Amino acid sequence: MLRIGVMVSGGGTNLQAILDAIDQGRITNAKVEVVISNNPGAYALERAKAHNIEAVCLSPKSYSDRAAFNQAFLDKVNEYHLDLIVLAGFLVTIPEEMIKEYRNKIINIHPSLIPSFCGVGYYGLKVHEAALKRGVKITGATVHYVDEGVDSGPIILQKAVEVLDKDTPEILQRRVMEQAEWVILPQAIQMIANQ
Ligand code: GAR
Repeated sequence: MLRIGVMVSGGGTNLQAILDAIDQGRITNAKVEVVISNNPGAYALERAKAHNIEAVCLSPKSYSDRAAFNQAFLDKVNEYHLDLIVLAGFLVTIPEEMIKEYRNKIINIHPSLIPSFCGVGYYGLKVHEAALKRGVKITGATVHYVDEGVDSGPIILQKAVEVLDKDTPEILQRRVMEQAEWVILPQAIQMIANQ
């Protein structure tokens, strides 16, 4: 049984997609042991509690400096003996020590077809704003392993999504979530849990 920790900062629709996939048997051999957020107001924490999953908030603001936060974050994660850490809309940089300790055990969902619209500064709605500004006709989502760079680790799965003429960033974001993110993130976890 793969022990999963999901890291979140916001609404948690990708977390919900994982929980639904487990409930419906599309993810087997895996269990979400903990959901950790940097943001006390993250609705994702409510989704976790509604599923009787431990919901933990660790805010960098509660620590004297980044090093203290990074240590507390690593200590907390280590408590759960996780086999897989899933970044599902997590907007905190993963500390290098954690990447080293969990090499090839951390995956991230990014809302574009990497290597387009990724790297420093590309997160959430900004990704879709950039895609619309460039005028691409196809965008999508990527699940990849996390390494020391930003969105630079090995790609696990990608799925393309059409951009339509009248799209706003919000409309495009929703389509990318529905047609790509909520599909390939559970698929990637299922692959990892059963390889
Ligand atoms: C998702 O679109 C995810 O791909 C994106 O944040 C959103 C979180 O939504 N992540 C990034 O941009 C990471 N660079 P959610 O909280 O509803 O899952």
